[in-house]
Amino acid sequence: MKFSVHARYMNPWIFFDVVFGRASLRQAMRNGVIDAAAEIGTQAGINAASILRRAEPVRMVCADPWSGYSDELGMPNSNVERIARRRLKRFPSVEIVKSGDRATIAKSLGECSIDYLYIDAMHDYESVSADMNAYWPCVRCGGMMAGHDIVWASVFGAVADFRAKHGVDVQCSGTDWWIIKTQGN
Ligand SMILES: C[S@@+](CC[C@H](N)C(=O)[O-])C[C@H]1O[C@@H](n2cnc3c(N)ncnc32)[C@H](O)[C@@H]1O
Repeated sequence: MKFSVHARYMNPWIFFDVVFGRASLRQAMRNGVIDAAAEIGTQAGINAASILRRAEPVRMVCADPWSGYSDELGMPNSNVERIARRRLKRFPSVEIVKSGDRATIAKSLGECSIDYLYIDAMHDYESVSADMNAYWPCVRCGGMMAGHDIVWASVFGAVADFRAKHGVDVQCSGTDWWIIKTQGN
């Protein structure tokens, strides 16, 4: 018999994340109030709902094209989108951007407008790099850009190269990475 549950679902951090919220969110909340948040790669809305419940942002942008992505359990995109919309509809602060186009999403977010921006879309090196570069201008000074799955070599490489290019400090805990935007960067 083939046992095909992806390693992601056996990750011990996932239980910690479910109970306490992801490490970057907990740190961002310690740093101050999160008025505006965004998640790039919302999928079924599980993490977005966790951000909404814990941080209660007055604005929460959830971006996902809901197409062309095969999740580990092989659920059709249309079902995933329906589940996300149903899960998120009780939160009035949610703005859904159904797109994978970075320029469109960045425009919806606005420059220097987001306190907590979480990247969890495609995990290959090029995509993570492109996401970080596209959305960094959307984070306000003092805000945080964060993301998931730093344990992936491709994610680690993209985050490390962004750090070298921009001269920023990167912090990691569990499966999360994050960068606080300061005046100089
Ligand atoms: C790992 S899943 C996200 C899981 C979700 N953040 C959570 O923790 O509940 C990745 C998602 O990114 C979406 N995605 C793929 N390319 C994207 C892009 N260019 N912009 C935004 N989302 C994208 C996929 O459709 C998929 O739903």
